[in-house]
Amino acid sequence: MTFISIIGIYFTLDWYCQVEYPVHKAPGFVVVTGASSGIGYSTAEDLAKLGYTVFAGFRKDQDGEKLKTIHANILPLRLDVTNAKDIKNAVTVVTDALEQSPEKPFVGLVNNAGVLFGTPIGATAAWKTKAMYDVNVLGTINLSNAFLPLIIKQKSRIVNIGSILGFCWGTTTGGYISTKWALRGYSNALRSELLKAQVSVSLVEPGLIRTKMIDKSVASSKAFDLSALDPVLQTLYESTMEMTILLNSLWEVPEFADPPKICTDVIADALMNKYPKDVYTVGQAFGTSGSAMRVLYTLLPPRVLDAINHYADEVLLPAKIAEYQEKLTMAQKMDL
Ligand SMILES: NC(=O)c1ccc[n+]([C@@H]2O[C@H](COP(=O)([O-])OP(=O)(O)OC[C@H]3O[C@@H](n4cnc5c(N)ncnc54)[C@H](OP(=O)(O)O)[C@@H]3O)[C@@H](O)[C@H]2O)c1
Repeated sequence: MTFISIIGIYFTLDWYCQVEYPVHKAPGFVVVTGASSGIGYSTAEDLAKLGYTVFAGFRKDQDGEKLKTIHANILPLRLDVTNAKDIKNAVTVVTDALEQSPEKPFVGLVNNAGVLFGTPIGATAAWKTKAMYDVNVLGTINLSNAFLPLIIKQKSRIVNIGSILGFCWGTTTGGYISTKWALRGYSNALRSELLKAQVSVSLVEPGLIRTKMIDKSVASSKAFDLSALDPVLQTLYESTMEMTILLNSLWEVPEFADPPKICTDVIADALMNKYPKDVYTVGQAFGTSGSAMRVLYTLLPPRVLDAINHYADEVLLPAKIAEYQEKLTMAQKMDL
């Protein structure tokens, strides 16, 4: 009874303190970083279909060309979020567009660009972990800061793409996990700072999504040279890397990951809803919903969660892997 009362009070307070933000309906301008593939690509496409003009961030020429062909409302924008010149140029391009079309507002900035190296943090060179921070955290902060005067003037919104790994953790990919925890702290702080300016800041935390990030993570796990480590580290991390590679081999199983579309719906909501949420948790990991995991990670002490993580590695995940591998083999047989 007391537990139910606490939950009731929590949601009542959350509802009572929700903030109404100005809504910019289409047409209007949106910037989406990392739109060459995955969640960014899907978001750019869906927002363009809704009538928004989307500046879609890309790094490689061929991706810029590809983006041009998706929809007339998509304007490819060369934008490496670690490159100060690209950031400055992005602000100039959007400012010019707003001057040329004053009837269109600046709806918001979607900080989606991200990288993941699928290796344990204790065995990953600091420069590699820093490379993730440069994109996932500092790229997001630098770009948001550069756009902030425009965002405040136009009462636009910021949507940061975090991850369920921004509130939970496992026994590998610690560097990536720490970047997404940093993004959560950053989003909370910025939302509070910008409350008076009526600028909404939302964090979207997807579970496992089928995108190129998975292929890139698999490649980094496979390229990881365990033998180059100190023997003490080799012993500690051998089984972790075996598990990581085994898990990575299962991405093709449909239940293992959701399509990017489930993220684009909530990103659109964060940009358009009168009462945007502070956090949107979407999707699942290994059959457990992200929302359920969020409750678990809020309620349980960290050492209990450590124990659960190790139990998962040793018992639950191998069982899941065996189950998924059987499904994968059956699907392959049916294809033949
Ligand atoms: N897939 C998942 O399971 C999952 C789960 C939770 C959260 N997320 C988050 O979702 C976001 C999108 O990832 P995704 O899954 O859609 O992966 P993805 O398909 O690999 O997309 C990542 C995007 O980020 C871009 N990018 C990388 N470094 C960049 C830089 N320095 N400047 C600008 N853009 C850069 C990539 O561009 P290039 O093509 O040029 O490399 C690509 O467009 C990331 O923030 C990721 O952390 C993904």
